[in-house]
Amino acid sequence: MLIIFNVIFNYKFNLKFYGIWNMSLEYMTGFGNDFQTEALPGALPQGQNSPQICPYKLYAEQLSGSPFTAPRNINERSWLYRIRPSVKHTGKYEKESFPFWKTAPSHDPENMSLGQFRWDPFPFPKEQTDFISGVRTLTTAGDVNTHNGMAASIYSFNKSMTSTVFTNSDAEMLFVPETGSIVLFTEMGKMHISPGEIAVLPRGMMVKISLIDKFARGYICENYGAKLTLPDRGPIGANCLANPRDFRTPVAAFEDIDENHNSIVKWCGAFFSTSLKHSPLDVVAWHGNYIPYSYDLRTFSPVSAVSFDHPDPSIYSVLTAPSESDGTANIDFVIFPERWAVAEHTFRPPWYHRNIMSEFMGLVYGQYDAKPEGFVPGGASLHNMMLPHGPDADAFENASKAELKPVKITNTLAFMFESRFPQHITKFAMESDSLQSDYVECWSEIKKHFDGKL
Ligand code: FE2
Repeated sequence: MLIIFNVIFNYKFNLKFYGIWNMSLEYMTGFGNDFQTEALPGALPQGQNSPQICPYKLYAEQLSGSPFTAPRNINERSWLYRIRPSVKHTGKYEKESFPFWKTAPSHDPENMSLGQFRWDPFPFPKEQTDFISGVRTLTTAGDVNTHNGMAASIYSFNKSMTSTVFTNSDAEMLFVPETGSIVLFTEMGKMHISPGEIAVLPRGMMVKISLIDKFARGYICENYGAKLTLPDRGPIGANCLANPRDFRTPVAAFEDIDENHNSIVKWCGAFFSTSLKHSPLDVVAWHGNYIPYSYDLRTFSPVSAVSFDHPDPSIYSVLTAPSESDGTANIDFVIFPERWAVAEHTFRPPWYHRNIMSEFMGLVYGQYDAKPEGFVPGGASLHNMMLPHGPDADAFENASKAELKPVKITNTLAFMFESRFPQHITKFAMESDSLQSDYVECWSEIKKHFDGKL
């Protein structure tokens, strides 16, 4: 990981550029950099981290995302200069209940279900629902207590968090919006993301999540393990896939609000709340490399087959959360974006396969080429450890007979949260009206073509 100390390129990123929203926020660009930023001039101490008295009489505080002694290339920490230290953003905690937000291990071996599963889009809430109340976990994997594994959830909400802040101590959170734009006001600044973009929040970072539209829906991957990072590119070389310059980290932004707030913390799968008399989003300046970031998936530069056959889908990995075993990710975040299909005398869709990794898929927009029917934006599918899957009957027949001319696969963005751990389905997911009871029928019409003759 490249460590560069200094602001790399502090510029005004105008979202009009993508034709999305008339909303401008400032970002710094690059992945894994060591940034510095201040919302008030002179707020950042120079030449040291912890002066006797900080500028503006702020408090200095270190936020560590790795053990102090972690090797330099994975050592992550930031220095925050805030109106009050974080000990003032805690209090006596009371238990809270968000029964649909689950954390591994949460499955009941007596009621385990095996099979390939798919869900229709999950409905928007009818009552006033904020982000935290609108999370519905579909799968959990591994064990949060050992910092291994993940959870895949849907968020769906229609109310902004105005006086509530949320901290997830269990996991780094990857947001994949599907409907509506949202603003993540983190301790370290504001990020605006829309469908087609993602955001990553570090473990333990406070955030308020607001709506831009009337409602928002999307996917979350909670990562209990080592942080997401860019995958090695091997023989691909120094360019393509997700390029570091396209990642955006917010500049410092803060609230100086002395009004009641409710702080909700997720910790080892349980939820707790405490009352504050002020907003804890009070970081006026910061520097470091333990940071939130966003990324436009449309800047991903795919690399794929130009002759025959096609590589494994890992070629489309945007981010990976490594484990102790080389090449065996706790989570791979993989996308299937717009691209050209040009391979000759080959079967172009994903091949039939069984996989030791467990694959949770979602669709942001368009159609997925292996499943043109039944897999729709806002829905999901799960193909778990060693369970066979692949194109449905029509997709196989069509791809087997198709004229193999160059084809642009357009207006599509599917993604996968793939884990080394089996993903266990939650009770909510199994009992949801969105569960497609006939999903496995998509393979029932696959014909036997073999007749013993060449
Ligand atoms: Fe697969």
